[in-house]
Parts: sequence; C-alpha cells; structure tokens
Amino acid sequence: MKKFLSVEDAPSISTLVERALTYKADPYKDKTLGHNKTMGMLFLNPSMRTRISTQLAAKQLGMEVIVFNVGQEGWALEFEEEVIMSGTTVENVKDAAPVLGKYFDILGVRTFPTLKDKVEDYSEFYIQQFVKYSGIPVVSLESATLHPLQSLTDVITITETFKEKRKPKIVLTWAPHVKALPQCVANSFAQWINAWGKADFVITHPEDYELDSKFTNGAQIIHDQKEALKGADFVYVKNWSTYTDYGKIYSNDPSWMLTQKKMEVTNQAKVMHCLPVRRNVELSDEVLDNPNSLVTHQAGNRVWAAQAVLSEVLKSIK
Ligand code: CP
Repeated sequence: MKKFLSVEDAPSISTLVERALTYKADPYKDKTLGHNKTMGMLFLNPSMRTRISTQLAAKQLGMEVIVFNVGQEGWALEFEEEVIMSGTTVENVKDAAPVLGKYFDILGVRTFPTLKDKVEDYSEFYIQQFVKYSGIPVVSLESATLHPLQSLTDVITITETFKEKRKPKIVLTWAPHVKALPQCVANSFAQWINAWGKADFVITHPEDYELDSKFTNGAQIIHDQKEALKGADFVYVKNWSTYTDYGKIYSNDPSWMLTQKKMEVTNQAKVMHCLPVRRNVELSDEVLDNPNSLVTHQAGNRVWAAQAVLSEVLKSIK
C-alpha cells in the first residue's frame, strides 16, 4: 500500500481489520518491521487521538517518529503553484514536501477543509500536493473530506462488538453543534460501511444536510430520526455542516441531540462517536456515560487501526 487516503487504497477491509485485531492481541509481534525507518507526522490542524495513536502504532512497529505541528511551529505553507508569494505564506509545498521526502520513509499528514470552496476541498488539494511532491508514501491523518484511520477503527470496533450471525443495523445520525464542522468523518464512515457491505446502513439527518452521494450511495436516508433509530444495533453520532450549500449551519435544532429516551427504540444499541464530543449538545451525558457507549473503547482502537495500516505501508517499501 503506497498511500492511504481513503478506503480505495485499502487492499481489503477484512484483511486490515484482522491485522488490527492481531496487533491488539500482541502489539509487539512485528516490532522490527519498521526498524531503521522514520515516520514524519505533519499536523496542519489540532489532534489528540490521531496523533498519539499513530505515534504509538509506529513505535510498536519499531519506527522512529517525528511529529511536526506545521500549523503552529512551521513556516506558513503556500499550496498554490505558479503564484507570486508576496503575501503571508513563506514556503511553497512544492519546495517543502520533497525535503520531507528526504527525511522520512512515510509521511502522515493532517490537513483541513476550507469549508468555503467545495471543489477545492473535494479535490483533496492540500493532501494531494504532499502526495505529488514528497515522493514517499502518504498516510492521511484526516484530510479535507475523509478520515480513513477513524473509519477503519470504526469497522474494527463494530466487528469485535457484534457477534450475532445476522447483519447489524448501523445508523449514522447527524447531531447539533456550535461550529460548522467538516463532513469528513461522516463521508468516510459512509464510504467504509458501504464498502464493507456487512451491515444494514441507515443515515439520518435534517433535510438540507445531505452528504455527497458518492459516499452515501448504498445507505438508506431517513429524515425522521426516531424512525431511523428503530431496531438499531449501533448509533454513530456526528455533526457535519451542509454539503450542497457548502459549509453552512442552517439550523442547530437541539431536538437532534441523542438522548437516552431516543435510545429506547433501538436494539439496546451501542453508541459511537469519533471524539472530541460536545457533551449535552451532540449527545447527552446519560448516553455518553451509559455502559452502551463505545466511545473510549473506539478511541483505544485507533492504535490498532494505525498499526495495521502502517504495517501494510512498511511492507510495500521494504
Ligand atoms: N477522532 C479524531 O480524529 O480525534 P483527534 O482530532 O483528537 O485526532
């Protein structure tokens, strides 16, 4: 695997899930695989879970890791080409990325969406510039429109939690939030669950919050949240801003917050969220603190997802 930007780069979801669970059982089984290899992790946006879990995963594979908070500590990067750089940007990615390619064997990058220019965001312009100019494998630590390490984690968590011989019903529900957030976690979750193909998948959101159909095709879209939640085995909660009229908050209807009362129509569903979460805005305290909440377990699985992905990348550069 020469890059990991979306599910399309994964050799097989089942293989990655199996590998991740193997590492969970025995974290150091491949402790020399990354010997004499160095991973650079560049953050153009804040992170806690992705940063720490990927760092741990790389170290458990024997790699050195260098984390660089470009957004706070680096020169302001220019991503456009053929521009006159007489403004605030100091260094073009065309010059910076090849240098990183000399220092590192694998480059992890967290970029961000503008939430203003849909075409640019959905072209994945920022992370693609690193792919184009670094000359080494690039692993997405979340990009403008996708978060594949999170989604692999989510499939791992569902796989190890659901043991019945039927397909689970998984509901992705929109939740209110105080800020306009990217669509990336929701897009990516939809993309992975559809590609996985082992669930009855429902997405519920207020009208006007539809996601890009290239990710949601295969899921049933229901605008009535209560109807959607009926019989759910898993409820994945996430806010996103509008996609069609891009990057807006139309309504922040608090009635969409997930409460324990709403959970009564589910099949004692497990609750998932990628974190960080706004308590009592997206989900109530009682849902988050309930034994059916998987959020901490899910975040713990970030390590094994990252380790499975990095091991695939290391095998391709050995
Ligand atoms: N879920 C997630 O990506 O968390 P961080 O932003 O803390 O990395």
